[in-house]
Amino acid sequence: MSLAVGVIGTGMIGQDHIRRLTRVLSGAEVVAVSDIDRTRAGQAAPAGAEVFDTPQALIRSDKVQAVLICSWGPAHEEQLLDCISVGKPVFCEKPMVTSEAAALKVIDAEVAFGRRLVQVGFMRRFDADYRRLKAVIDGGTLGLPLMYYSKHRNASVPEGLYTSDMPLNDTLVHDADISRWLLSDEIASVEVRLPRRSRQGGELRDPHLVLLHMASGAIVDVEISVNIAYGYDIRGEVSCEKGLAALPNRPAPVVSDQFGIRQAIPEDWRERFIEAYDQEFREWIVAAGQGTATGPSAWDGYAATLVADAALRAVTSGGREEIAMRDKPALYDTAAKVAAA
Ligand SMILES: NC(=O)c1ccc[n+]([C@@H]2O[C@H](COP(=O)([O-])OP(=O)(O)OC[C@H]3O[C@@H](n4cnc5c(N)ncnc54)[C@H](O)[C@@H]3O)[C@@H](O)[C@H]2O)c1
Repeated sequence: MSLAVGVIGTGMIGQDHIRRLTRVLSGAEVVAVSDIDRTRAGQAAPAGAEVFDTPQALIRSDKVQAVLICSWGPAHEEQLLDCISVGKPVFCEKPMVTSEAAALKVIDAEVAFGRRLVQVGFMRRFDADYRRLKAVIDGGTLGLPLMYYSKHRNASVPEGLYTSDMPLNDTLVHDADISRWLLSDEIASVEVRLPRRSRQGGELRDPHLVLLHMASGAIVDVEISVNIAYGYDIRGEVSCEKGLAALPNRPAPVVSDQFGIRQAIPEDWRERFIEAYDQEFREWIVAAGQGTATGPSAWDGYAATLVADAALRAVTSGGREEIAMRDKPALYDTAAKVAAA
């Protein structure tokens, strides 16, 4: 039997996930949609899906077994808490929430419910290249990881909608999460350096250089450039005691012609991570069908939120901002073992 999914937020990524669940993957059916823009919801709804006036009505509907949240970040908290209150598995696009207090509310609700329901959309963990990179590091032949260089480059971001805080509270969350996962470590403190501003983004503060100090002493250096014009370019290289391990350049045909030898660069995240999103949802469909979640957890969403908050503080203070995490509830220890198995 197909998993009956309700989708909240039918913008860019909501539509892409509806396409994925409807036309690419098996095991799920989009039976309901909702968006504050009802017209957009109606246009995005696959044949036979019901358009709900409010996310709350969709979440409570008997038709809906599992929920996919693709609304804007500040709306996620209320929608997540509603899903947990009715015990429905929920996939929430990043950022899970936009404040520490909200993240703790989600964790407390899930822990009180007693079973994992929340998966956060950190799709890099499902990318085959990142998984092979992690396997090399975990294998231990290169010794301990000492430094990780993470490059996050977007061709452009929507003018006016993407504001100067967003490289740190919307984009950095991916690099923060993948650093914790790749290095099996926690982020203890954060520094931010602001280089000369790129004229590509007008008044937008861009680029950013972020240093993540890991609990082990390893350091992650993150470049976030969101208006770099040439394409969507994600890179990663881990420097270990006895060697390096890096993401390969994106496999793409090498074209030789009268202009030289070149490889295409993805335009945006949809192209670069298309297979990762597919795999992310394959695994989610299986877990949600069993009434739970196994991918990146609310705890991972909480950790990324703390990093975003600390990075924003670091811009103001110019110094190194510490991160204090609460003790990890047992619910997330078990989940980590399942996810790693
Ligand atoms: N994992 C990734 O790589 C990735 C990539 C892109 C976007 N995202 C995340 O996905 C989310 C959506 O991004 P997007 O690019 O699709 O944005 P978008 O603006 O294209 O779409 C968001 C949609 O949500 C709707 N919406 C907003 N608040 C709502 C509410 N309270 N209830 C119902 N609908 C609401 C809007 O009307 C809009 O249609 C964001 O959190 C974003 O950070 C993740």
